[in-house]
Amino acid sequence: MTLSPQFLDELRARTLLSALVGKSAKLTKAGREYKACCPFHNEKTPSFYVNDEKGFYHCFGCQAHGDAIRWLTDARGLPFMDAVKELADAAGIEMPAPDPQAKARAERALGLYEAMEAAQAFFEEQYGGLEGGEARAYLQKRGISEETRKRFGFGFAPDSRGKLKTALKAFGNEKLIEGGLLIQPDDDREPYDRFRGRLTFPIRDRRGRVIAFSARILGPGEPKYLNSPETPIFDKGRNLFNLDRAAPAARAANRVIVVEGQMDVIALDQAGIGEAVAPLGTALTDMQLALLWQMTPTPILCFDGDSAGQKAAVRGAMRALPHLAPGRSLAFATLPAGQDPDDLIRANGPGALEALLAAPEALVDRLWRHEREAEPLDTPEQRAGLKRRLLGLSSEIGDPDVRDQYRAELLRRFDETVRPPRREWQPNAPGRGAGRRFQAPPRPASDAARAVGASGLNPSVARAVLDGLTRYPALIAEHAEAIAALPLASGEDRKRRDLLLDAAFTHDSLDPAALDTILAGAGVPGLAEASGQQRGLNFSFARANADPERAQRELVLVVDVLAARPELIAAHEAATARLKEAFDETNFAEQQRLRAEIEESDRRLARLVLGDETI
Ligand code: UTP
Ligand code: MN
Repeated sequence: MTLSPQFLDELRARTLLSALVGKSAKLTKAGREYKACCPFHNEKTPSFYVNDEKGFYHCFGCQAHGDAIRWLTDARGLPFMDAVKELADAAGIEMPAPDPQAKARAERALGLYEAMEAAQAFFEEQYGGLEGGEARAYLQKRGISEETRKRFGFGFAPDSRGKLKTALKAFGNEKLIEGGLLIQPDDDREPYDRFRGRLTFPIRDRRGRVIAFSARILGPGEPKYLNSPETPIFDKGRNLFNLDRAAPAARAANRVIVVEGQMDVIALDQAGIGEAVAPLGTALTDMQLALLWQMTPTPILCFDGDSAGQKAAVRGAMRALPHLAPGRSLAFATLPAGQDPDDLIRANGPGALEALLAAPEALVDRLWRHEREAEPLDTPEQRAGLKRRLLGLSSEIGDPDVRDQYRAELLRRFDETVRPPRREWQPNAPGRGAGRRFQAPPRPASDAARAVGASGLNPSVARAVLDGLTRYPALIAEHAEAIAALPLASGEDRKRRDLLLDAAFTHDSLDPAALDTILAGAGVPGLAEASGQQRGLNFSFARANADPERAQRELVLVVDVLAARPELIAAHEAATARLKEAFDETNFAEQQRLRAEIEESDRRLARLVLGDETI
């Protein structure tokens, strides 16, 4: 059986070489690569490198070099066909049946590349000619420079049924029909040019060969874009627009951006962002994901914020699940609804896009947000539904370690979301000092934000902090300002806080027992009635037997973080409002900075609540 180069390419693309080699050699991460002591010769210091992006291993000591297949034949001694079978099995790809069709297809492809090249030359010539005026005016109106035009090979298909056919007649009609350049009507009538009166640009494969065309209408009308049909050399699902140019750019930029439209790729390139690709009018396929992961561990999907774009983003996320691995994920940059990257760059400059790309949402966050927002959580059925969907998502993940992590993370978020009854963390009375209501940020990026932000000042946290202060009264005077700013929800808690502050300023030295007496005298519960470790809170300062130094350190930290929150959240809200009014780089950067700050404070709180903060 002869295996097609496409099949072998797919096999390599779908195999994570480091995982394969890692089964029999101890790899350690070294920058973008992995290194190990060479399995092919004896050595004490590692000179054997594995590069997942390129899909190659290389030993600088003994010059051993190869891809995944070569690894199995050379390191494991498998015959070539067995090696291929093993990789295909592992990647879940079917071995091609030994079919005469494949041979026929290979023969049919002969001459097709040449025909496409000739068509490309024809379109470019037409663009520069008499009839190309409308196309030239269109590109100018879109702000596409002559350099960009040349780089992407824009051309013009004249509004005629036979000009291309005549110009390329040396190839024969059959070949031109095969390549999708001519349309053969059902009956016996003459074939005619497919692309007529449109701006054209070539779709190239990863080796830069023209394999298809995309053609945009110049005025109003349908369809806006006309693409070549599938042909022996053009398989939409196995290619990405601009792959040939994006792959080297991706290595330099250390990232890959997936956008929805081919014109977006071109706009990005003109703005200096060369590492962008687009699917070819279909949803992302497994093969396209594999191609993306060959370029970078975490491609960024940068789709329109409208519902169609977000549906496509989530579909991409779901599609990725079976293939996730350590060091293999997706991230998401969501555009303002109704804007594509081309629009955004034109309206606000490349900086606005860069700002979005600088803080993409992680896959786990995007999935969580999707499921969390799918329906309300008011009834037990709805909550159970969410839980089931989350477990369903996790179970899609192929890699057992990643799967475990997702399950744990999503369940943790679920628990934190459904646990606190609403009234606990949406107090209606404002805290002393702060005239604002304490509440979670409107749209936190990660749910740690919502959940921990939510429990931030729920009564048990408030109680634990007050217990801590009662236990370590020496801290009160020094941190009085932050303590006064704590957004406490209940009147009783506020009263206890006030008593603690008063006591700290009226007594020179205080001990917990004296404080307890003062509190009891005012009819406020003191330490004696507190339960210590409450409701899953693991604060060291809420425990009687904790190391006092650590407990005090953590107490100060929690007080500072909590006291700063109302301000921070108000600032974030204001920045969000400003951003909604004017989407520009400065406003965006400020809003993102505040959001990151809230998240950081959430993470610190979460670690403290869980008792695993190491300060
Ligand atoms: P859009 O309709 O969003 O177009 O389609 P666009 O990319 O913004 O194009 P301009 O800016 O108006 O020129 C997004 C993508 O969907 C595919 C194309 O790949 C397009 O880039 N598409 C769209 C088609 O294949 N055919 C169509 O008729 C429309
Ligand atoms: Mn557009």
